[in-house]
Amino acid sequence: MNALLEKSDHIQREFDEALAQANDRDELERVRIRFLSRNGLVAQLFEQLKDVPIEEKPSVGKALNILKARILDQFNEKKRLLERSTGDRGKELDLTLPGRPRPIGTRHPITQTIDEIRQIFVSMGFSIAYGPEIESDYYNFEALNFPPDHPARDMQDTFFLSKGKKVLLRTHTSPVQIRTMERQRPPVREIMPGRVYRNEAVSARSLVSFHQIEGLYVDRGVTFSDLKGTLVAFARQFYGKDVQYRFRPTFFPFTEPSADMHISCFLCKGSGCRMCKYGGWLEILGAGMVHPHVFKYVGYDPEKYSGFAFGMGIERIASLRYGVDDIRMFYENDVRFLRQF
Ligand code: PHE
Repeated sequence: MNALLEKSDHIQREFDEALAQANDRDELERVRIRFLSRNGLVAQLFEQLKDVPIEEKPSVGKALNILKARILDQFNEKKRLLERSTGDRGKELDLTLPGRPRPIGTRHPITQTIDEIRQIFVSMGFSIAYGPEIESDYYNFEALNFPPDHPARDMQDTFFLSKGKKVLLRTHTSPVQIRTMERQRPPVREIMPGRVYRNEAVSARSLVSFHQIEGLYVDRGVTFSDLKGTLVAFARQFYGKDVQYRFRPTFFPFTEPSADMHISCFLCKGSGCRMCKYGGWLEILGAGMVHPHVFKYVGYDPEKYSGFAFGMGIERIASLRYGVDDIRMFYENDVRFLRQF
């Protein structure tokens, strides 16, 4: 066999090997220079064609041309492959394609409800206070005028954290009233949002953990009219200015007199529907005039000061407002549910 053809076989094998090992643009460029440039190995083969005996020239020349074409093909194929896999795809990027949507979160409906209620009271001159979720019997019950062993304590099924039942998870936000009054002298105008706990069976209408907003207003000469005026002003802003309301007597150990506030059902406007259980009214909060015993516990003189307090359950208010008939849905965090608020 012609020595030049032997050399060309050798170069083909070398080229195959070098190409297989070239894994990026720079390595590929080095392969090109070594084999395909003006003084590369392929060009050198053609250079040596002049020394081939004249009668062999046509066949050897043809073989070299085939070699060169094949090497060029292989090289271009590899180049295309590399460009595709390294994301170097210039022409393949279609700038007219729609972008990829990124879903963004929204504030939780319970947070939204708290913020809205808070904002209404802040605009009336209330400020915000917080208290601990782990409470003592003293703040959750005793200072709120729940006598020891009194059945009123059973109104709120309690999670106790200590054997002697002295440490517990607060069952309402009312203990923050006590902490607020211990800290400051009247006038007091405070809104106290927070999480509360009750040892109850979970159902469509009750959870073991939910939220309340407490309100407290203490000053000289505060009357039940102030309570009504403030809460009606709130209800008109939150539920709409045409809302009807009524107060019905009830009992809380820490307020006297005590009342539940009802508003006309905003779904049926009072004519009766599923939401108001066909009664036309919705209970939205509990309230009352602060009991003189409570003032004694915090060192306020009940002869000098009077005040009112109220408390409302946020999950209940949000479920009425948004027509959610199972409050467990607020805590399943299903985005299909949460997206709607
Ligand atoms: N703490 C009461 C409850 O959880 C609500 C309330 C607060 C009532 C303040 C009167 C005054 O049911």
